Amino acid sequence: MLTVAILAAGKGTRMKSSLPKVLHKLSGKTLLQRVIDTCNKLNPDRIFIIVGHKSKEVEESVLKNKNIHFIVQTPQKGTGHAIQVLSQKVKKHEGKLLVLNADVPLIKLETLKNLIKFHDTKTADVSLITTKKNNPIGYGRVFTKKTLIEKIVEEKDCNEDQRLNLLINAGIYCFSWIKLSKIINNLKSNNKQKEIYLTDTITLLKKSYSLEVEDNGELEGINNRVQLSKCEETIQTLIKEKHMFGGVTFINPGSCTISEESIIGIDVIIEANTHIRGNSKISNNCKIGPNTFIKDTLVNENCEIINSTIINTKILDHVKIGPYSHIRPNCEISSYSKIGNFVEIKNSQLEEEVKINHLSYIGDSNVGKYTNIGAGTITANFDGTKKYRTNIGKNSSIGANTVLIAPINIGDSVTTGAGSVITKDSQNNSLAIARSKQVNIENWKKNKSQS
Ligand code: UD1
Ligand code: CA
Repeated sequence: MLTVAILAAGKGTRMKSSLPKVLHKLSGKTLLQRVIDTCNKLNPDRIFIIVGHKSKEVEESVLKNKNIHFIVQTPQKGTGHAIQVLSQKVKKHEGKLLVLNADVPLIKLETLKNLIKFHDTKTADVSLITTKKNNPIGYGRVFTKKTLIEKIVEEKDCNEDQRLNLLINAGIYCFSWIKLSKIINNLKSNNKQKEIYLTDTITLLKKSYSLEVEDNGELEGINNRVQLSKCEETIQTLIKEKHMFGGVTFINPGSCTISEESIIGIDVIIEANTHIRGNSKISNNCKIGPNTFIKDTLVNENCEIINSTIINTKILDHVKIGPYSHIRPNCEISSYSKIGNFVEIKNSQLEEEVKINHLSYIGDSNVGKYTNIGAGTITANFDGTKKYRTNIGKNSSIGANTVLIAPINIGDSVTTGAGSVITKDSQNNSLAIARSKQVNIENWKKNKSQS
């Protein structure tokens, strides 16, 4: 039987934040959810999450499943106290209890599996993960005697000599729960922080073993925002390396961020300052960036997108976008279309080879094949209370500076006169023009000077 306890009740004072520490995010996912997701893959019998500070907010953030239970710890008197509260509230103490700090979010599944295996082969009372850190500041130091751990001393309680010990406690423990419950209530708070430390159980238990692993970033605990950014970098480096090994070129990887969920095809070139977020897919042979933000968007093969923002949109193949285009949610831009400078598009469907090259707003619209939208065209889709659609057929040519007052239907092969304000539907093959006729007043300058 395997039970997991994740410690997430602390405030996270060192984050200097109104948000509980475990709700800070790394690459779009909270620290706590990262630990839960990894633990779920162990298929444990139960997962207990110890919450306390802003417990409602923390509970609401978690993706629920029937294995997950919340235990409220108030007040928070330390990591040992958290497990005391758990042991009081849950009566059955069988099998193994895997305890993890929710602020060690990069822990790998493999490492947890190794810890459990190690614990079983040693028939240990407790096994915990340790590593040697060149800069161990802030971590509890682990002292061993022959093959067993003798004690863990928190940084604040260390004397000068003890502080030189580079072997640290990663905050991940596998206990025999029965053995733990016999001593859990004997913990004292006679330390600098006046807290009940879980780490003191190590001395109270007999068979305490350390599984020392190489520090490759997965054991970084997050107490402050410097450590948060370090972990973000670790994740991002792994994601980008995965894509590079998979056939993606990054011109300046350090300036780009990619979500874990995003898929990128081969021979894609990602230029500097490009951010691909959410569930996005970039297909083969695309060139993205520089300076581009893409979220929850599908981009098919052979597209070029430069200096643009695109959200929740479907872009088919051979499309060119930018510079300075803003494609807002619910658009579909079909093959060989071209969206140019300072163009905003929202909730619109564009068929193949549509061109909107300059300075336009196209919202709530359908645009047919081969249609050209002239510079400065605006779909006036909002009357102050409701939004309406604009339908434009194929092969049409919307003159520069046309305002299309929705709801409106423009047929196939329609031309609109530049500067027109179009308020009435127009049939196939027509010219729609709505502007006052030009008047030329002869000798205007001379007349003026005479008066
Ligand atoms: C802890 C360990 C330290 C270890 C380090 C690894 C103790 C006493 N020290 O120190 O040896 O090197 O983690 O990262 O355990 N929490 C509760 N209830 C509480 C207090 C804390 O649930 O009453 C939770 C926090 O939300 C956090 C975790 O426990 O997720 C660890 O607490 P934190 O205060 O960050 O411990 P550290 O000082 O980092
Ligand atoms: Ca910590």
